[in-house]
Amino acid sequence: MSPLVGKRILLVISGGIAAYKCLELIRSLRAAGASVRAVLTPAATQFVTPLSVAAITEDKVFSDLFSLTDESEMGHIRLSREADLVVVAPATADLLARMAAGMANDLALTALLATDKPILCAPAMNVRMWEHAATQANVVTLAGRGVRFVGPDVGDMACGEYGPGRMAEPDEILAAIAQHFACGQRLANRRALVTSGPTREPLDPVRFLSNRSSGRQGHAIAAALARFGARTQLVSGPTALPDPPAVQVVHVETAQQMLAACEQALPVDIAVCAAAVSDWRAAEPQPDKIKKEAGAAPEPLRLVENPDILATLSRAATRRPTLVIGFAAETSRLLDNAVEKRRRKGCDWILANDVSAATGTFGGETNEVHLISADGTELWPRMSKEAVAERLAFAIAEALEAHP
Ligand code: CTP
Repeated sequence: MSPLVGKRILLVISGGIAAYKCLELIRSLRAAGASVRAVLTPAATQFVTPLSVAAITEDKVFSDLFSLTDESEMGHIRLSREADLVVVAPATADLLARMAAGMANDLALTALLATDKPILCAPAMNVRMWEHAATQANVVTLAGRGVRFVGPDVGDMACGEYGPGRMAEPDEILAAIAQHFACGQRLANRRALVTSGPTREPLDPVRFLSNRSSGRQGHAIAAALARFGARTQLVSGPTALPDPPAVQVVHVETAQQMLAACEQALPVDIAVCAAAVSDWRAAEPQPDKIKKEAGAAPEPLRLVENPDILATLSRAATRRPTLVIGFAAETSRLLDNAVEKRRRKGCDWILANDVSAATGTFGGETNEVHLISADGTELWPRMSKEAVAERLAFAIAEALEAHP
């Protein structure tokens, strides 16, 4: 049976030339058993008529924020909450910018701001608009809040240029929607624990030891596991990221606090240690700010080793998670070091990544990983950290399904 049977889709259509493809998308969604309710932005009505959308959805089409009939029959809050998934197709540069800014100046934006449901966007715009730093920053902001993207595809554009910016084809969008619903059950009844971000080890009340981890990979993994249906807890060091949707988040600063929060979260089925835990902390953090004595050399900093959270979880005598996964951040001899790290820490899988400055991985948006397990090594192509998270969630679901 199609995972779309009985699902309710709220389709937000914004004003791009690709809007005409929505008619085909609606038709396929309905053929697969979903119901579709459509909201058009005022600009969208220039590209596709509300009448044709209404004919294909066999439902009223909503577009006017201030229409009394619309509000009394179906307010924007209900409109956004009664769906299982909100799909934005096409998502224009303007719409993504307004979403990222949290604006609510038409019915579509109001529904997008009010919804508590997952959102999938299919961007469509000119290649330069897609590549513009403003659009890319908006996509990163939205992805950080759990919004998912399908496309854009690379190809000829209506404006005569060539490159990324074409809206994904309706069958691609349909597949992404089907995958969303199919995945939602794969880790149901499973519990997951994820560590993310750096830790901060205080030297005194104003200074600390830390590293450049952004937390983006760990947060994306927590979001992906939650999307797959796992009851997910994220233990995060300080990051600039918003808490991922549908994830229980515990905020910590130090490695010792991170370990305590992880132990508290047990038992879990899956543990993914993506945090860049500081290996050392100050032996004697000072209660008062360390003063600079004029002319005197500073005292050498005495450090002691922090607990290893991944090794502790992997070697837990009781309540060891079924699948313990770590990362190996290396700048040389990537595979040798990672294989050795997997053995030393006792975890099941290691995702090895090269974090040399030239790769831009640490603190960046993409990642290239090798998955190392008892079965061998698999190289995944460079992809966004969200895509790595999705692929990892798939691999975890397959592994747990094979050994229930
Ligand atoms: N890790 C951890 N607790 C620590 C140190 C590391 O849980 N105190 C975890 C990380 O979350 C990651 C894995 O161990 O999953 C490997 O981290 P990495 O920094 O690559 O390795 P280190 O143990 O720090 O070893 P080294 O610095 O020698 O490479």
